[in-house]
Amino acid sequence: MDKKFYITTPIYYPSAKPHMGHAYSSIIADFFARFKRMDGFDVQFLTGTDEHGLKIQRSAEKQNIDPLEFCNQISQTFRDLSKTLNLTNTDFIRTTEDRHKKTVQHLWKELEKNDDIYLSKYSGWYSVSDEAFYNEDEIEDVDGLKRSISSRSTVEWIEEESYFFRLSKWEKPLLDYYETHPNFISPETRKNEVISFVKSGLKDLSISRKSFSWGINVPGNNDHVIYVWLDALTNYISALNYPDTNNVLFKNFWPASVHLIGKDILRFHAVYWPAFLLAAKIDLPLKVYGHGWILSGDEKMSKSKGNILDPIEIINEYGLDPLRYYLIKEVSFGNDGNISQERLEDCINSDLANNFGNLCQRVTAFAIKNCNSEVPNDIKFEKEDLIILDKYKNNLKIIRDKIDNQDINFYIDFIINSLFEANKYFNDQEPWKKKEDPIRLNTIVYTTLEIVRKISFLLFPIIPQSSLRALKIFDLKEDNINLSSVENNEYLLKGSKINKIDILFKKIEKNND
Ligand code: ME8
Ligand code: MG
Repeated sequence: MDKKFYITTPIYYPSAKPHMGHAYSSIIADFFARFKRMDGFDVQFLTGTDEHGLKIQRSAEKQNIDPLEFCNQISQTFRDLSKTLNLTNTDFIRTTEDRHKKTVQHLWKELEKNDDIYLSKYSGWYSVSDEAFYNEDEIEDVDGLKRSISSRSTVEWIEEESYFFRLSKWEKPLLDYYETHPNFISPETRKNEVISFVKSGLKDLSISRKSFSWGINVPGNNDHVIYVWLDALTNYISALNYPDTNNVLFKNFWPASVHLIGKDILRFHAVYWPAFLLAAKIDLPLKVYGHGWILSGDEKMSKSKGNILDPIEIINEYGLDPLRYYLIKEVSFGNDGNISQERLEDCINSDLANNFGNLCQRVTAFAIKNCNSEVPNDIKFEKEDLIILDKYKNNLKIIRDKIDNQDINFYIDFIINSLFEANKYFNDQEPWKKKEDPIRLNTIVYTTLEIVRKISFLLFPIIPQSSLRALKIFDLKEDNINLSSVENNEYLLKGSKINKIDILFKKIEKNND
């Protein structure tokens, strides 16, 4: 079995500071990275910033700053956010780095060598905000202003000499590829959108611009800079040192396991990127997953709409893990989802404080008082104990499969149900009434402690800091966490010490006026 896993987030535009949408993609990617790591995989996890193009050039001009200086500043805020979100990314790439520029120019030459590039003239609509070309039928007229129907960003007319990529040539090979690789685009609804877009006919793609200079030069023609999307998409392999295909990073981690993106940039990842790769004879990533949008009201939360919840403010107020948990739970993965502070508070109270926190507190307090602060030694499992314990073993394969299909909803539901069951088990078994039957009392405590341990392992990819705090009950550390051991019903060392821990989650006082 090849236990390598490579996951990427989009590289974000450092045109303004990061917002909740960026935090969302990054947290989800981190969830997968941590899950795979605790399942014994060697994980490469890439994120970064996408720094060239007219959008960035104009943002810098507005502030009268040199574009590189502008990017240095804002890219740093994205790098800082990775730390704040406790991401375990193994690399952070900036498209202004030399390692990246070299790869992009090399890829260009490969495309040229294979006769996939020609010089002509472009005239058509362009959205600087999306850095995207749109066809006439993708444009609408609102109060005399032309805008993209899908993104609602304004478009401008451009006419200039441009290099083109022979995208039309790849229409049939792409359709064949989607057919033979049914999991390449996920979820299913997104796949269908892409297929119908490709079937409607692909035109050759303009891949250079002449009218501004903030980009990577076209090899052999310094009048042109390379189209920012061809530049940006290449980050996924420049971070693995392509074209050095013999180096360990590329060898181990390409093709990528998943490019995790928002549905706004599906076309670039599911049509253009695979076409470039096919043309350059490079393997295609195994999967492109286009998740839904975080909405604010009914609109996509975005910089240009100014309707942003600031992740830093939320973290300062509630802490990081509650935000991570909330985003993963509240937004049904794959679909759009509304988030609000009100619902975040409910979620902290019900799931984190009442359900998980309470279970940990109750059983440790009881064990400290009644079991001499030790993991009980003398135990004998009865049927009802094994039923609740074996659930983890019985579901482990399913959990792995679901995660390989990005079914985070299953995962979180499994955890929530398990927490309810565990609290119910402890209530129903009434260990406080078993003082004359020490073996039974011990067994109930042991079983519940085992469940706390298993669930804390499962929660680690979602709320890593809180999971580690809970595991202090048993003096367990990050190195001890591994998914396989969730199968083991007697992992906890009998007779080992039980530590009292601080409250895991403070309940939020809510006033109802
Ligand atoms: O598109 N809900 O960068 P970008 C959920 N540089 N996710 C959201 C979101 C929202 N409201 N808003 C943004 C670019 N995102 C290019 C990418 S990749 C080679 C180049 C997330 O700064 C989501 O992942 O506009 C979306 O696809 C991405 O941020 C767009 O970030
Ligand atoms: Mg965007």
